[in-house]
Amino acid sequence: MNDHITTSIVVAAAQNRTIGKNNDMPWHLPEDLKRFKRLTSGHPVIMGRKTYQSIFDRLGKALPGRDNIVITRQANFDADGYVVSSVKDAIEKAKNLAKEKQLDEIFVIGGAQIYSETLPLTDRIHLTEVLETIDGDAFFPELDDGDWKREVAEDDCNADGYRFITLNRIQP
Ligand SMILES: NC(=O)c1ccc[n+]([C@@H]2O[C@H](COP(=O)([O-])OP(=O)(O)OC[C@H]3O[C@@H](n4cnc5c(N)ncnc54)[C@H](OP(=O)(O)O)[C@@H]3O)[C@@H](O)[C@H]2O)c1
Repeated sequence: MNDHITTSIVVAAAQNRTIGKNNDMPWHLPEDLKRFKRLTSGHPVIMGRKTYQSIFDRLGKALPGRDNIVITRQANFDADGYVVSSVKDAIEKAKNLAKEKQLDEIFVIGGAQIYSETLPLTDRIHLTEVLETIDGDAFFPELDDGDWKREVAEDDCNADGYRFITLNRIQP
């Protein structure tokens, strides 16, 4: 029923696949944050409880202008958004919200656990490649190159120290 809605991951990852350290981002890339906002604004965003906590600690609130969907096993977790107890429920909720708003894309925004668990269900990855090896404690899962068609945005590929890539799942 919701087949036309694309499930996308948005992630910034270093060359060694680091995405985080001490429950925070290990870099500050304003252009990446702008891209993140441009992609996700108005859309449902799915995140693990730890990423929610990290965003809340930084902003003092959930991500504004988006339907925040938080995945946790805690029964009474209180979040500024929808709280669900499984990846399946998160994607279903996000697709229903997208459908109501006539949107064609939902976004999984981390962290490491949730990227791993949603990767098999993901159609597209909006990747910011950080062109360095960076020390961290949270990592993006390894991708099978045979599964993904890689597109580098013309105007984004010369950025200093990072580049924006879109990976679309190759349909069997
Ligand atoms: N570079 C990037 O683009 C990016 C983006 C996002 C996050 N990050 C970084 O990633 C790190 C956080 O990643 P993380 O792996 O530690 O945490 P996470 O994936 O954000 O959240 C993990 C939590 O999600 C809940 N959860 C996971 N799987 C579940 C399931 N199947 N069913 C129900 N609940 C489930 C659990 O919450 P409970 O413990 O409450 O049950 C678990 O502790 C931080 O360093 C953050 O800054 C980086």
